[in-house]
Amino acid sequence: KNMRKKIVAGNWKMNMNLQDGIALAKELNETLTNEKPNCGVIICTPFIHLASIAQFLNQDVIGLGAENCADKEKGAYTGEVSAEMVKSTGAQYVILGHSERRGYYAETPEILKEKVLLALKNGLKVIFCIGESLEEREAGKQNEVVKAELEGSVFNLTEEEFKNIIIAYEPIWAIGTGKTATADQAEEIHAYIRSIIAEKYGQAVADDTTILYGGSCKASNAPELFAKPDIDGGLIGGASLKAADFMGIINAWK
Ligand code: G3P
Repeated sequence: KNMRKKIVAGNWKMNMNLQDGIALAKELNETLTNEKPNCGVIICTPFIHLASIAQFLNQDVIGLGAENCADKEKGAYTGEVSAEMVKSTGAQYVILGHSERRGYYAETPEILKEKVLLALKNGLKVIFCIGESLEEREAGKQNEVVKAELEGSVFNLTEEEFKNIIIAYEPIWAIGTGKTATADQAEEIHAYIRSIIAEKYGQAVADDTTILYGGSCKASNAPELFAKPDIDGGLIGGASLKAADFMGIINAWK
């Protein structure tokens, strides 16, 4: 397989209180420090967990990230958390563009563009999510949708900036539904995504871009998905909430 970085990232979403989150991170930390994984591992947690987890996490084997950040630098935005604040906890990553943020919190391509720029400006790497709805897939519009999402929020970046972007393809119909895209369906659109990155930034950048699959990915289907040439790992929701489940997916790279 190609040389680009393989990653399994967890997206905890709005799950686990601080104590439970610390306990899970400690368990993963110990396991992954003892048995080095064959891929990069990242956990993305609620904001309030970040500083505590960063205190003990061995970031040589597990990266730490937030699930969101603000579209403004700082100031009178009650309840928001800036990219600079995320970075100051010791986190290195941030998920942006998740379909739950786009859908439930009305995050537009314009807002996401601002968030991406602020994240990069503050030294965070971005896991940028794209993916179509069931309706769009049934209308055969999936390629159009992911292209527009990339053009709307990340294709404005310079080549140097774009190197800090990890793409996560998450078909909305597969998130938390138990319905996974087949490995062939996922591969087809991953290859398309890589081709439009190549058109924009050239083949070398496209070949180096990590493209993750997300949506009901678990230990049982990860090996088949990860065997595909353009699938470089997964962004994992439900199955990242228990160490054994998450390790099962990480070990799909063995
Ligand atoms: O970001 C990960 C995600 O949306 C997939 O969630 O629970 O289907 O693995 P899940």
